[in-house]
Amino acid sequence: MDDDYSLLLLIKKILMRRNCLSKLADQAPAILPSLLQCDFGRLADEIQRLKDAGVHTLHLDVMDGVFVPNFTYGMTIVKAVRSLTDMVVDVHLMMVEPQKYVPQFYDAGADIITIHAEAVDDARPVLDSIKTLGAAAGIAINPQTPVSAIAASLPHADMALVMSVNAGFGGQQFNEAVLTKFSEIRSLPGGEEILLEIDGGVNPETIKKCTDAGAQLLVAGSAIFKQDSYGDAIHSMLGRVN
Ligand code: DX5
Ligand code: ZN
Repeated sequence: MDDDYSLLLLIKKILMRRNCLSKLADQAPAILPSLLQCDFGRLADEIQRLKDAGVHTLHLDVMDGVFVPNFTYGMTIVKAVRSLTDMVVDVHLMMVEPQKYVPQFYDAGADIITIHAEAVDDARPVLDSIKTLGAAAGIAINPQTPVSAIAASLPHADMALVMSVNAGFGGQQFNEAVLTKFSEIRSLPGGEEILLEIDGGVNPETIKKCTDAGAQLLVAGSAIFKQDSYGDAIHSMLGRVN
């Protein structure tokens, strides 16, 4: 009986992860608002405004003040977001020793958990543990990190996140030099099917370069939250790529 239950649970987790991944692939090119600059005092309203603007996936930036100089929020905010929406929740961990906290972020409601290659000695066991829990597993690289640093991780990851600014702050200038990384990832074993995400400086001027280079999931903070209408901001970006 216990064995049957464990097997059913495992199958359910695999199906949930697959479902999340196919939803994301179907949405591409999709804009994922980074909540870093949203008004957390009005979180429910902010999420509703994004939903009304046609958003399906939210991007949450977790910063620990060690891996990056900035500090943001942890699992409590992920849990609050989860309680307010059934949208896909994409959690970007900019922290050292992410393996210690992966289960807590999963329990808080993360659908995708991305770790930084620069933050771990060996990404594989962390990516495997994320998938075993039932979430999709992402591997991120900062602009100065070459694709070779994640080559061995690609067969174990569901998503590769190419940072187009140095992780740590919103509102930085887009670094175009990272765009060649997408075709490089696609050419590697395990990179053929992986979801490709870009994060940092995505706006109406840069978005087409990102999709032309192969990015499917486009994280945007300032380009949305500094505008009065989130819908107009998102549609004006999507208008450049569709
Ligand atoms: C940076 C974060 C980003 C950031 C994007 O470390 O990972 O998600 O919020 O913000 P913009 O779009 O303003 O560059
Ligand atoms: Zn991010």
